[in-house]
Amino acid sequence: MTSADDEVLAAGGDETLIFANATQIVTCAGPPRARRGAEMADAAAEHGVAVAVLGGLVAAVAPLADLRRTYGGAREIDCGGGVLMPGLVDSHTHGVFGRTRSDEQELRAAGLDYMEIARRGGGIHASVRDLRATDEETLFALARERLARLAAFGTTTIEVKSGYGLSLDDELKMLRVIDRLRRELPTRIVPTFLGAHEIPLEYRTSAITRSAYVETVVNDMIPMVAKNGLARFADVFCDTGVYTVEESRTILSAARRAGLLLKLHADELTSSGGAELAASLAATSADHLGAVSEAGIKALAQSSTVATLLPGTMLFLGKSTRAPARQLIESGVPVALATDFNPGTSPTPNLPLILTLGVSQLHMSASEAVIAATVNGAAALGIADHVGQIAPGFAADLALFDVRDLRDVPYWYGDNRCVATFVGGKPCHSSDLGLC
Ligand code: NIG
Ligand code: FE
Repeated sequence: MTSADDEVLAAGGDETLIFANATQIVTCAGPPRARRGAEMADAAAEHGVAVAVLGGLVAAVAPLADLRRTYGGAREIDCGGGVLMPGLVDSHTHGVFGRTRSDEQELRAAGLDYMEIARRGGGIHASVRDLRATDEETLFALARERLARLAAFGTTTIEVKSGYGLSLDDELKMLRVIDRLRRELPTRIVPTFLGAHEIPLEYRTSAITRSAYVETVVNDMIPMVAKNGLARFADVFCDTGVYTVEESRTILSAARRAGLLLKLHADELTSSGGAELAASLAATSADHLGAVSEAGIKALAQSSTVATLLPGTMLFLGKSTRAPARQLIESGVPVALATDFNPGTSPTPNLPLILTLGVSQLHMSASEAVIAATVNGAAALGIADHVGQIAPGFAADLALFDVRDLRDVPYWYGDNRCVATFVGGKPCHSSDLGLC
């Protein structure tokens, strides 16, 4: 558990609460770890029960009359016949950035590819130039407002990556912003160091300068980030034209030695051996996988690594390829879904919309999609032992939706049916229905 989690749990309301009058409570209850294969098929929707919360933790899921007897004097929260679920876990975002990149969307519509835009100095490079020129206070204010939008869709845990700084000072600047978000927002925030998001333009001139940047990530950035406790994870963008498998291995191995957990942007656009690398390093997650190979799927199935799929990215980039979610699930790979919220490839705050894409584009069932954005999202952040399910002892991170059945969450696509969220039993977000 991170110190951030300690803080959130400690801050969890002292008040005893009973969440009553939900048509369904989708508990996702089960083992406190990533779910694989058939384990993803049942999100455990219960009828005729309510949830008691004590000290920020779920105390019991039982019939309302029983909870009233056991927890006399508890404040009751009327769920209004909605569906109560574990708060959604968005395990992959680049939520701190300056200006938007709507210009690039038009360029792509006119036929220019994402990587071609990057080769011309746009893409991640454009966000790097912009972030370097933007002060910390402005970045914080922008991110606070943007992350509140994610929370408004039912998300209670958000992973946020650095990676638009690409120099020691600018990466630290980003991580300080993320750390402040972690301390000041009601949402649970998990920080990731992504100093290897791109090769900065100033290091792209030769093989020597390129390896000098890898060295500065390994020798300067990782030790400083670890020493200051600014990240839980390290991540690398491993793909053709960005970091090679060998460079990624060097960086992630150094991160592991420094005590960080590992993630990898793997096989997003081309099949480059990223999934195999993530599996061999026992990375907590391998993300994207739009072009994962058969060997990559096999390697993941034999590992502990969670496959985090980001179908919003493929949709927004206008790509027709899809991550092979069914094959991954049927091979026994635990699958998570996340937004990839970022200014270039997926500027959506709407994780329920990603569930829609999980069902309609990746052929997942609604239960699989829900497990992918709760328990398995938590597993992709190494926190599935206390986040991601409505079960006794778990953090009372809850999302209430104005629907009658869990399948209606991916069904009403693009709509925001989230009425309220709670983190550690404390109100995080509420629409104006006066529920909290
Ligand atoms: O996950 N692939 C690398 N990173 C992001 C894109 C970031 C950007 O274009 O700004 C992604 O898609
Ligand atoms: Fe990403």
